[in-house]
Amino acid sequence: MAIRNIREIGDPVLYKTCKTVKEMTDRTRELIDDMFDTMYDAGGVGLAASQVGILKRIIVIDVTGEDPVMLINPVILETSGEQSGNEACLSVPGKTGMVTRPNYVKIKAYDMDLKPFEMEGTELLARAICHELEHLEGHLYVEKVEGELMNVSDLEEEE
Ligand code: NI
Repeated sequence: MAIRNIREIGDPVLYKTCKTVKEMTDRTRELIDDMFDTMYDAGGVGLAASQVGILKRIIVIDVTGEDPVMLINPVILETSGEQSGNEACLSVPGKTGMVTRPNYVKIKAYDMDLKPFEMEGTELLARAICHELEHLEGHLYVEKVEGELMNVSDLEEEE
């Protein structure tokens, strides 16, 4: 297990398109383990491989802290509904902003054995899936924030 360095906004690697994973190797297995460790250590609910500097189409998500999801080469098959809420990203520390996302997504992805599967998600899981998939395309949520990007600390003061 290892915690990797999380790349932050402005780092060129975050704006590149990730490549399809075509084979499972020990290095990729290690990357996935490290991605979970890194996400949990940072207190995040999702992490894309590009955020640790690796341009592979791999994401990890855990919106409850006890429901780890690992997606290889994920694609969205279907979306519906709408939700608006504050979003954040481990690559944009201390910031948050309002983003509208689908409230439901259905995706296809590949598991650790590169076997395909389908999965559905609603609410926070749907949001996290959409957010992480955009990382694979080289996009950050800050590009679609409605209104202003805020400091998390300012929000806390208001409450
Ligand atoms: Ni992110």
